Amino acid sequence: MPNAIILGTGSCVPDKILTNHHFEKVGSNDAWIQERLGIKERRVVDGQTTSDLASGAALNALKSAGLDAKDIDLIVLATATPDRPAPATACAVQDKIGASNAVAFDISAVCSGALFALSTGCQYIQSGMYRNVMVIGADTFSNITDWERRDSVFFGDGAGAIVLTSTDEERGFIKFELHSDGAGKDGFTVPAGGCETPTTEETMKQGLHCFQMDGKAVFETAVSKVPGTIQSVLDHCGLHIDDICCMLPHQPSIRILEEIASRIGLPWDKVRTNMDRYANTSGGTIPIVLDETWRSEKFHAGDHLLFAAVGAGWTWGAALYKC
Ligand SMILES: CC(C)(COP(=O)(O)OP(=O)(O)OC[C@H]1O[C@@H](n2cnc3c(N)ncnc32)[C@H](O)[C@@H]1OP(=O)(O)O)[C@@H](O)C(=O)NCCC(=O)NCCS
Repeated sequence: MPNAIILGTGSCVPDKILTNHHFEKVGSNDAWIQERLGIKERRVVDGQTTSDLASGAALNALKSAGLDAKDIDLIVLATATPDRPAPATACAVQDKIGASNAVAFDISAVCSGALFALSTGCQYIQSGMYRNVMVIGADTFSNITDWERRDSVFFGDGAGAIVLTSTDEERGFIKFELHSDGAGKDGFTVPAGGCETPTTEETMKQGLHCFQMDGKAVFETAVSKVPGTIQSVLDHCGLHIDDICCMLPHQPSIRILEEIASRIGLPWDKVRTNMDRYANTSGGTIPIVLDETWRSEKFHAGDHLLFAAVGAGWTWGAALYKC
């Protein structure tokens, strides 16, 4: 069976910066945001769509992979903030970057989306169906944020992309473990805008088209579910946490990441984070942090990278990549 390896990475964030001071008017403050969440600033779109950011990330990933858009066989895009309810944002990206030979579809797993999309892309490569797969995580949560509430501090906009390709070598993504628990569907949700509660003047007035979050439930789910999943992935591969070169996690809050690292026994200097600059970019977090790490660090054959994510649904999972 072929394996799926990373051939190139790219990312794209909007130019507009919002610092924490912006949130003083909704009752928050810089000290609270930095201490609990680890955020100094975030980027927000100014007229760009999710597919615009995704296309920017995809073009950068193609450049780093040394491929042409027409070489891509499949685009899998994870987002919770699509350009439109239909068609898929992946189709808009296919058109914008000129990937005319690619099949394109979206995946919805919110903050775990990029990890779920990566696992999907890998399956297509391992089955032999496709050779070059573009996996994208992209979100513009500024579109579903109620800017009058103080939970508007959590998210930023951004996109990352990963070009995967097929190899016969014994390396690449060697293990995924994914989980879902729909009983937690109200812990983080956008209540209106779907067929359950269609958009009306009243739902708009009540802000039900914006995300609602039970912060404590997110925290508890993250720290109770993710460490065990990471351990299970390590056990499956016969590895110890000391064998991990670095962890590239979803970026929900610095305290969540510190708690997960502590529970699995991973030194903090092995955790890669960009929360201070971008906040939580939801589906964008893992591919953006991977892009930054892939470009700035040198990995050697046999190094192991750990991926982990948790998000609405609930959804969570972990993966191992062997360089
Ligand atoms: C949200 C979170 C930081 C709250 O932490 P906590 O310690 O449980 O906070 P509490 O709700 O008990 O509130 C603690 C204090 O902070 C205050 N507070 C809450 N939100 C605030 C905000 N945005 N700005 C400033 N202060 C805030 C509360 O009023 C409370 O003040 P008090 O002690 O004077 O009463 C924490 O639960 C968390 O990190 N959750 C995960 C959220 C997340 O990752 N979301 C991304 C979705 S994937």
